[in-house]
Amino acid sequence: MRIALLGTGAVCHALAPELLSLDHDVVVGTRSPRTTLEANKAYARLASRYPALELRTFADAVPGADLVVNAIDGPSCVAALTPLAPALVGRVVVDVSSPFDWSVPDAVLDPVNTDSLGERLQRALPRSKVVKTLNTLSAQAMTAPALIGDGDHTVFVSGDDASAKAVVSELLTSLGWKDVLDLGGIRSARATEMMLRMWIDTSAAVGTHMFGFKIVR
Ligand SMILES: NC(=O)c1ccc[n+]([C@@H]2O[C@H](COP(=O)([O-])OP(=O)(O)OC[C@H]3O[C@@H](n4cnc5c(N)ncnc54)[C@H](OP(=O)(O)O)[C@@H]3O)[C@@H](O)[C@H]2O)c1
Repeated sequence: MRIALLGTGAVCHALAPELLSLDHDVVVGTRSPRTTLEANKAYARLASRYPALELRTFADAVPGADLVVNAIDGPSCVAALTPLAPALVGRVVVDVSSPFDWSVPDAVLDPVNTDSLGERLQRALPRSKVVKTLNTLSAQAMTAPALIGDGDHTVFVSGDDASAKAVVSELLTSLGWKDVLDLGGIRSARATEMMLRMWIDTSAAVGTHMFGFKIVR
């Protein structure tokens, strides 16, 4: 597949090499490719290590992509993607964003309870197929499920379109995920986004980001 990976942070650093190794074409999206290559030293190192990675603006990364990943900063992502709605018509949009409001102490979630970033994104992109997933994991754990409990833990998918969830579930399986749990419509993104409070305190308690949640049934 041709995958537009929108975002140049830790999620991009984890996903891009793995997607390339699975023979996908990966186009990374950023606000300004020139600024990113000049000022984002970590991304510049990634780009020199993986010359197959293309770097474009968010808008230029989307055309021709079979699947688009939203790995943009949570509070900024809906506003950043709304102008791309026409280009994203019919596309599967994998949303890994977290609704942390870092402007206040202790990582408050916003939206929470009655709304979610996944739902906001789906409302902003009404003709796209938003699938929320991987957001209950650290970036490094997203692509290395086997490093945690021999891979015996759960990744969740939420979305209104069954065919889009099937595409994303297949991609997750190819990344090594064994337990992909379909939580239902995009409304269920509220549930996994609210797990982030649990994620923060669990991370502090176990002293590592490399852990996962497992639904025992
Ligand atoms: N890091 C993790 O372990 C982890 C785990 C689970 C979920 N998530 C979620 O996944 C998403 C990506 O996380 P990340 O850690 O890889 O990166 P991040 O630091 O949260 O976000 C980096 C990306 O956001 C873009 N960005 C920042 N402010 C922006 C603005 N005002 N307008 C448009 N774009 C803006 C940056 O653009 P430029 O490229 O132009 O700088 C960059 O591409 C986030 O929503 C995060 O909450 C992260």
